[in-house]
Amino acid sequence: MVRHFLDLTEFDSATLRQIMEGAKRIKSTRNGARDGVGPLAGKVLALVFEQPSTRTRVSFDVGMRELGGQTLMLTGAEMQLGRGETIADTARVMSRYVDGIMIRILDHDSLTELAANATVPVINGLTRRSHPCQIMADILTYEEHRGPITGKTVSWLGDSNNVMASWVHAAARFNFRLKIATPEELAPPHKLLDWARTNGGEVIAGEDAEDAAADSDCIVTDTWVSMGDSEAERRHNLLKPYQVNARLMSRAKKDALFMHCLPAHRGEEVTAEVMDGPQSVVFDEAENRLHAQKGILAWCLGGPEAL
Ligand code: CP
Ligand code: NVA
Repeated sequence: MVRHFLDLTEFDSATLRQIMEGAKRIKSTRNGARDGVGPLAGKVLALVFEQPSTRTRVSFDVGMRELGGQTLMLTGAEMQLGRGETIADTARVMSRYVDGIMIRILDHDSLTELAANATVPVINGLTRRSHPCQIMADILTYEEHRGPITGKTVSWLGDSNNVMASWVHAAARFNFRLKIATPEELAPPHKLLDWARTNGGEVIAGEDAEDAAADSDCIVTDTWVSMGDSEAERRHNLLKPYQVNARLMSRAKKDALFMHCLPAHRGEEVTAEVMDGPQSVVFDEAENRLHAQKGILAWCLGGPEAL
C-alpha cells in the first residue's frame, strides 16, 4: 500500500494522532535525525504547483531538506501536463524518478487520479475541495498553545471553502465541536455535513456569526475569494457580516485563539486589530506548516518507523 496523504477522511483517528505526535517529536528533536542522518536521506520529493503558493511551497521544500531529502520544484505550466499529457501518464512517469509527489491542483479528481496511478506517495497541497496539511498545522498550533483539542469548540466564520472542509474532517477525526457560520448562499455542501454526521463529527452549521462564535475556544476564518473563485464583489457583499472583528472575538471565550491559514486580507475577512492582536496565532500556524508536514513527509516517504 502506497502511503498517500490526500484527505483527513482517509485516515482513522489513531493514524492522524500518530502523525501529529511524530510531527511534535520531530519539531522538538532536531529534525528526527538518528546518528546525524535524516530519516529521508537519499529521497527526492517533487513539488508540483498549478496554483500560486508561498507557505506550502517554502515549507515543503525546507521540510524535505531538513529531513535529509531533496526537492524538485515544478509548475504545471512547465510540464507536458500543460500541453495535454494525462494526469495518469504523468503519475506513471514521475513515479519512475521521484520518491514522492506533493501537488497543488484545483481539481480534486485530478489529485485522486494522480494518486491512483502513482506508485509513490502523493500529498495534497490544496485542491478546491480540501487542504488537509493546513489543518494538521492548525491543530498542532492549537495544542501547543492550549493543550489537547479534543472536546474543545472551534468556530469557522465566512466562506465555506477547502480549508473549512478539512476542519470538518478534522472535527470528526480529532473529536472537537465545530460551529460554522456562512451566508445561506455559501453554506457547506450537504454531502460534507452528512459525512461529518456519519463519522461522529459534531458539526453545527448556520448563518449567525455571533451564535457560532459564542463560547468558542478558537475562531477561524479565511479569505472571501479563494483561488479559482469568480464574482469577487458579490462574495464580498455576502460575507461582510462574517468579518472577524473585536466585537465578534468578544463573543468567544476570553482565552480563545484566532487562526487564519493566510494569506489574509486585513479589513476584509479579519480586522487588523484581531489579526495583529494578542489572541492571534497566525504566524505560529504558518511556521507549523513546516513541522506538521515533516510529520506527514516522514510517514508517507519513510513509514511509521520514521516518526
Ligand atoms: N496557507 C497556505 O496554503 O498558503 P500558501 O497558499 O501560501 O501556500
Ligand atoms: N481558501 C484559500 C486558501 C489559500 C491557502 C484558497 O483556496 O485560495
